[in-house]
Amino acid sequence: MTASLVNVSYIGATILFILSLGGLSNPESSRRGNLYGIIGMAIAVLATVLGPRVTLDGVQWIILAMLIGGSVGLFAAKKVQMTQMPELVALMHSLVGLAACLVGFASYIDSSVQFEGAEKSIHEVEIYVGILIGAVTFSGSLIAFGKLSGKIGGKPLLLPARHIINLIGLLVVIWFGIRFLQAETTDAGMIPLAVMTVISLLFGIHMVMAIGGADMPVVVSMLNSYSGWAAAATGFMLSNDLLIVTGALVGSSGAILSYIMCRAMNRNFISVIAGGFGSGGGAPAKKADGEPAGEVTAISAQETAELLKDAKTVIIVPGYGMAVAQAQHTVYEITKFLREKGVNVRFGIHPVAGRMPGHMNVLLAEAKVPYDIVMEMDEINDDFPDTDVSMVIGANDIVNPAAQEDPTSPIAGMPVLEVWKAKTSIVMKRSMASGYAGVDNPLFYKENNRMLFGDAKKMLDEVLTALRG
Ligand code: TAP
Repeated sequence: MTASLVNVSYIGATILFILSLGGLSNPESSRRGNLYGIIGMAIAVLATVLGPRVTLDGVQWIILAMLIGGSVGLFAAKKVQMTQMPELVALMHSLVGLAACLVGFASYIDSSVQFEGAEKSIHEVEIYVGILIGAVTFSGSLIAFGKLSGKIGGKPLLLPARHIINLIGLLVVIWFGIRFLQAETTDAGMIPLAVMTVISLLFGIHMVMAIGGADMPVVVSMLNSYSGWAAAATGFMLSNDLLIVTGALVGSSGAILSYIMCRAMNRNFISVIAGGFGSGGGAPAKKADGEPAGEVTAISAQETAELLKDAKTVIIVPGYGMAVAQAQHTVYEITKFLREKGVNVRFGIHPVAGRMPGHMNVLLAEAKVPYDIVMEMDEINDDFPDTDVSMVIGANDIVNPAAQEDPTSPIAGMPVLEVWKAKTSIVMKRSMASGYAGVDNPLFYKENNRMLFGDAKKMLDEVLTALRG
């Protein structure tokens, strides 16, 4: 394949990637968006492998790598549960970071390409910055993987003088950067490069360890953005235009997503990165003095069905527990039943419900819930006072009134769905345990709240049977 044909293929792939991002912004067009992405990536890989920069004597390694990578990807995609998707994504971001580091070291050691003067300096800056971003992305994503999968606790690790430590780290990295650029030989340059890599790896670990429970969505989207910039940096090191464009697309869309997430959580981006929000997870709700926060009123599936039957308006608020229980299909069956009986049923979706952006929308779309009854938080929050029943299915943090009522709460200021303003709210979960942010939820003790304890799928099946009976 000639160089110009490769360029044409790259332009085609770039257009497909842009169309893909456009498609993925809406559930209705997301499948098409995904397809554009797959075709674009296939063209990009083929054009690169068949292009003039790959010689025949190395092609067996590329084929071997593609076979191994492709098989691992296929296996992971087939095996992973929907609830494990965010962890898988974090793990994949870490691989992009690792690739950027390896390419950086390889292009520094590679003696077959020689640069002189200003070109040499530019190439070395590309390498230094590329490895820096790659190392932060790699270690940060691994920690995010640990936190999302529950292998590492959600509690933020707050080292004393952590901001000073970060600042010193940055100054050391800049100082070694200057030494790296001044190095006469590759061997002399290796030391500053290695020191910077270690500091960057430690910075990535420190940055994500310092972020507590409910702020993880921002970190996940931020690492997504970093992985894009790491890919763009790799593109610069390899002088590959397509990689630069693709990396920039991922980097900027990740940055926009981080901004959206910050707005959804009412957080300042810098303060999230500085860390220290949220605490451990899984503890029962307690009052500030450590006493249990009050009495809860439990309800049966039969009573829930009665309440739903008598209601004129119902708002369903799904959360992470619905994904765990895979209850979305039963939710839709109940919705269909109630709508046929003339009940106005709608869904209220919090921007950070579940464990990844759009998590609930994907599940509801899979269960074929019509899009026009799935509303975003801002569209539906004012309607709770005129609602008979709000039904919370496996959600916790996103319906926690402490965010509005308790200025000392770690989630204070985070916008939440005001389910407690409905005539009756029903919370469906297995126990009194807290949600991802590990904070107490006073909703459970409100007078108009009922708790339906049990696995969401099992309880909803019982509710459906009671409704039909
Ligand atoms: P959570 O606050 O995590 O609450 C989920 C609740 O579901 C838990 O309290 C749990 O209580 C219940 N549950 C778990 N399995 C269940 C099952 N099988 N049946 C019934 N209930 C079950 O979830 P949320 O309200 O969706 O809020 C999301 C949280 O995750 C926020 O703090 C958010 O910041 C964070 N987060 C979000 C993202 C993105 S991008 N969406 C990424 C990372 C973190 P029991 O154990 O008592 O059943």
